[in-house]
Amino acid sequence: MKITVLAGGNSTERDVSIVSGTQVCKALRSIGHQAVLVDVCFGAPEMDPEKAFEGEYDTEAAAEWMRSCTGRLSEIRERRSFFADGLLELCSASDTVFMALHGQNGEDGKIQAAFELMGIRYTGCNYLGSAIAMDKELAKQIFRESGVPTPAGIVVRRRDEVRPAAKNVVGLPCVVKPSCGGSSVGVSIARTEEEYEKALEEGFRYEDVLLVEQYIDGREFSVGVVDGEVYPVIEIAPIEGFYDYTNKYKAGSTIETCPADLPADLTEEMQSTVLDAYRALRLQGYGRIDVMMDKENNIYCLEANTLPGMTPTSLLPQEAAALGIDFAHLCEKLVEISLR
Ligand SMILES: Nc1ncnc2c1ncn2[C@@H]1O[C@H](COP(=O)(O)OP(=O)(O)O)[C@@H](O)[C@H]1O
Ligand SMILES: [Mg+2]
Repeated sequence: MKITVLAGGNSTERDVSIVSGTQVCKALRSIGHQAVLVDVCFGAPEMDPEKAFEGEYDTEAAAEWMRSCTGRLSEIRERRSFFADGLLELCSASDTVFMALHGQNGEDGKIQAAFELMGIRYTGCNYLGSAIAMDKELAKQIFRESGVPTPAGIVVRRRDEVRPAAKNVVGLPCVVKPSCGGSSVGVSIARTEEEYEKALEEGFRYEDVLLVEQYIDGREFSVGVVDGEVYPVIEIAPIEGFYDYTNKYKAGSTIETCPADLPADLTEEMQSTVLDAYRALRLQGYGRIDVMMDKENNIYCLEANTLPGMTPTSLLPQEAAALGIDFAHLCEKLVEISLR
């Protein structure tokens, strides 16, 4: 199949996306697909739909080319057009587009909405579920209304004249996070009012709307759902601190166990809670829900990732591996779902 693997973009997760895209492209090619790696904002050296999928292809060179474009991000605002020249034509000529983007302008449903209108097929969730899941404030409201357990939380906006003391809202420690961020960028755990003030300042560097949440002291997990089927639970245990950007992407900094060492009843409860969360947010295709469990074994859904990390060692691929599905075939499965 002719597959455009779309990566890069201009979110805070651009670099991570290039890594996902490279691995997905290689994996799809390894099982015979004509996959090409393309930057949603900068395109690729060959954008002609007649030539792009033909002949020899070097995925690493394509990734290197994408990295060389990173310094040109300010151009995107100046030219007032997000998509690279020729991108929509290339995507239209593909059997499907593999969405290897993460974060803003990729995971948030905007591209999906445009593709839907243009009849371009793509992997993952549709625009609505993507948009809802991207907004942690909105997702939390839906979790609450749907009876999906989630930590207590409030929203603090940059323009708010008075900022409530943490002890008066969710207590301390608390977690401060940008409402629409990802990869733990701008996320802090505050243990004192002073740290809380600093955490707000840090969060506002990224966004005008922050979520302040009750801190859940316990174990962390994540659970994927693919095509309505819930995958095995993976436990995430950073060796130091919480699951921040470094612990997410630095090899060896986090112990990941799949299937998680949990009694069967808790595994089942977590999987059914995750399925409720997935349905409440109207997700489709696939996604991965982040979960905490406190010392009394209470389960809390933190958030949903509609385009979770996609390298062979990322969480969802590890879950698939526990089911005997290797990385390339997981990628192919996501492609097949997108064609229905
Ligand atoms: N309420 C919470 N209690 C404890 N830890 C949390 C809480 N919220 C977030 N965290 C930690 O911060 C990390 C990032 O938060 P998350 O809500 O998943 O945002 P994102 O992954 O989109 O940046 C989590 O993986 C977890 O380690
Ligand atoms: Mg997360």
